Amino acid sequence: MKTETNGSNSNGAASELAIDARSIVKVFGLGDARTVALKGANFSARQGELHLVVGPSGCGKTTLLSVVAGTLNWDEGKVQVFGTSLDGMKRSEITDFRRRNVGFIFQQFNLIPTLNLIENISVPLLLNGIRRRTAEDKAGELLKRVGLAGKETKRPTQLSGGQQQRVAIARALVHEPRLVICDEPTSALDSETGHQIMDLLTTAARAPGRCVVIVTHDPRVYSYADRITQMEDGRVMAVLDGEPLQQFVHSTH
Ligand SMILES: Nc1ncnc2c1ncn2[C@@H]1O[C@H](COP(=O)(O)OP(=O)(O)O)[C@@H](O)[C@H]1O
Ligand SMILES: [Mg+2]
Repeated sequence: MKTETNGSNSNGAASELAIDARSIVKVFGLGDARTVALKGANFSARQGELHLVVGPSGCGKTTLLSVVAGTLNWDEGKVQVFGTSLDGMKRSEITDFRRRNVGFIFQQFNLIPTLNLIENISVPLLLNGIRRRTAEDKAGELLKRVGLAGKETKRPTQLSGGQQQRVAIARALVHEPRLVICDEPTSALDSETGHQIMDLLTTAARAPGRCVVIVTHDPRVYSYADRITQMEDGRVMAVLDGEPLQQFVHSTH
């Protein structure tokens, strides 16, 4: 379906991209500690898509998605998210853009230990100026949807790893961001919970104008993918779609 673009300078095809990252270079450290984490990586994801990123440990997956999410500065290349260019934006502008448009589930969850679960999940709504009462009602709904009803006033440290991960997922979805980025979202989850979470993420990806990108090593997740990007040594090596995607999914089961 083609619709009018609301972006000022994007043509039809570009407007359907949720993410368009070109020739991204990212260098960490200096001298002996210098690591080139991204060596000209090209990555794109479409609106309405659940897109997986796979590749060996250390190949740059987390770095790439941190750049796209606006949590990490990069050295070279161009990044567009929903047609908005992040190049040359001030840090404060990127932070504002991220708060409104991006939900990020970190590998280490990054929950706030002094806040209870409802308060943790409310954070993105409060940062966007939603009233506390409304935010906490919405947070309670999300807590139920990730299967943790009854644990509203617990603190993150009172939960198992899998439960903490589900809270992190609820927090990433609560403000209905257009882009959800998940770094290994199902790694600590048992099989039933993993599928429940993937159903939630698939629903989020399918909503109009939205996109979910997931970094994963978990073959159970592969069958949910619309496309899969394969990374290696700081670069994107292939983007799998159609028949090659089916072959990849079946070869890993
Ligand atoms: N903050 C950092 N400081 C220095 N090196 C880093 C940092 N983050 C990542 N790296 C290095 O960059 C490379 C890519 O890391 P990363 O993006 O975390 O890979 P992946 O998520 O695919 O496992 C690795 O060599 C890693 O050691
Ligand atoms: Mg990683």
